[in-house]
Amino acid sequence: MSEDMNDDRVSGPVDPTTTAAWSALEAHREATTPDLAGWFAADPQRARRLSLEVGDLFVDLSKNLVTDETVEALLQLAEQTGVLARRDAMFAGEHINVTEDRAVLHTALRRPPGASPALVVDGQDVDADVQAELGKVFEFADAVRSGRWTGVTGKRITHVVNIGIGGSDLGPVMAYEALKPYVQAGLECRFVSNIDPTDVAETTKDLDPETTLFIVASKTFGTLETLTNARLARAWLWRELSAAGALQDSDEARRDAVAQHFVAVSTALQKVADFGIDPANAFGFWDWVGGRYSVDSAIGTSLAVAVGPEAFREFLAGFHAVDEHFRTTEPARNVPLLMGLLNVWYVNFLGAHTHAVLPYSQYLHRFAAYLQQLTMESNGKSVRYDGEPVTTDTGEVFWGEPGTNGQHAFYQLIHQGTRVIPADFIAFATPAHPLVDEAADGADVHALFMANFFAQTKALAFGKSAEEVRAEGTAEDVVPARVFSGNRPTTSIMAPSLTPSVLGQLIALYEHVTFVEGAVWGIDSFDQWGVELGKKLALEIAPALTGDTAALDAQDPSTGSLIRYYLEHRAN
Ligand code: F6P
Repeated sequence: MSEDMNDDRVSGPVDPTTTAAWSALEAHREATTPDLAGWFAADPQRARRLSLEVGDLFVDLSKNLVTDETVEALLQLAEQTGVLARRDAMFAGEHINVTEDRAVLHTALRRPPGASPALVVDGQDVDADVQAELGKVFEFADAVRSGRWTGVTGKRITHVVNIGIGGSDLGPVMAYEALKPYVQAGLECRFVSNIDPTDVAETTKDLDPETTLFIVASKTFGTLETLTNARLARAWLWRELSAAGALQDSDEARRDAVAQHFVAVSTALQKVADFGIDPANAFGFWDWVGGRYSVDSAIGTSLAVAVGPEAFREFLAGFHAVDEHFRTTEPARNVPLLMGLLNVWYVNFLGAHTHAVLPYSQYLHRFAAYLQQLTMESNGKSVRYDGEPVTTDTGEVFWGEPGTNGQHAFYQLIHQGTRVIPADFIAFATPAHPLVDEAADGADVHALFMANFFAQTKALAFGKSAEEVRAEGTAEDVVPARVFSGNRPTTSIMAPSLTPSVLGQLIALYEHVTFVEGAVWGIDSFDQWGVELGKKLALEIAPALTGDTAALDAQDPSTGSLIRYYLEHRAN
């Protein structure tokens, strides 16, 4: 049996502020004073009731500023704004990316081989296409990992440089960093994204051209940064191979070098060919995969090379487990649904402008950067998908750093500042490096690390009263500065360890949280028109920087004066 989902049944958004649930939430907010200590004292089951599991993730929502009444009203809001219907439309391949008239099917990228019924969208057997492309990526990954794929002089590849930006960079680099313990010995990936020439220069400066492979990753294959960096990398390759006496001075030799040292990932395979990369060395994906949702497509080729097909399959299985949870679990136990609704509660009812994500794992040091694109490019919108203005605040700022570094930098503001900052704390029970501090009686360093994780959410939730501060003998005039109000909301997410599957689960969790928020607000979380104007203006401004006086004179006074400063002060 197959499901032909080529049927655009997307209906218009519901204005959330007109729903009964919205009014109920407003009244509830007015009537409720957050009191986490009191709520825990009154309900010994609170932690147990509000702790849920999704895949390998244990998610404790109990330190959020909600009562059962809040959760019930938020679930009503989801129902009254059609969140679940929109979820089902997404999984079914309806064109819920309205402004680009596209299906949104990143969930199809991680359906297991042989999934039944087959998913057919717009007449395309999506499952077959996904598995075929994955097979190509894996074959390539195996060839590089085994040494079958060599550079033009026959040497084994030791360094893979992914050239991409946005979704064609942030996912691969974040996942590569997160899964370092799984990377094959003797292989290293690097990532070039910025058009600041420093990036390409620093990344290539100590590389051996004979053992370096570039992956040019660009959904559109039209992104200025990526194409510029790809040309710089190609020039570097030719120059360095020549300098090593490993390249003849002929077009054919240069072509051969590109064939062995460049592959591409894109939905625009003709443009890949135009760049000079053999289409046989190009891996495709589809316009129904948004850039920021693409790490599990061929965009993850660098990761597949680094960790190998088996680990990559586990990564995909992790995503799929959370997809299935989101698709099938009843609302009251549906973790991405609840987390997305909590975010709506904080943004629209409690005035939160930002959301911190604080992984207690050094391996997740790029996770917040990755989430920034996922969440903010998705939900940074002020019109709904029917073109009408939104009726309420949308898209909070996501930010974060790994603990414990953040504790010594910005946690002060989370603990004692004037703003509500919901924070997600993420940690793993088993360390990748179980080190002990011999000089401190053999202290288990991971346990110390975890003690900080537990301490922070406890301090944020329960604070420290003036009485407690006084009881420590604190001078009266310093007491106010040392009081912690508590009632600062956190979600704790734990897993046994940071495996490829768990990483996939975490990413899928946040993808769906982002989806839920966007669905309540009635926005298209899958377009990104807001990045276009700056790109266009950069192309218009560029001539003004290279002597086109008419282009310079056409600028507004501020921009013109900044360009003149640049022209006067550049050293060469
Ligand atoms: O400019 C924003 C954006 O379009 C992102 O959405 C995307 O991930 C990034 O640029 C890179 O695009 P591409 O993969 O097409 O090079």
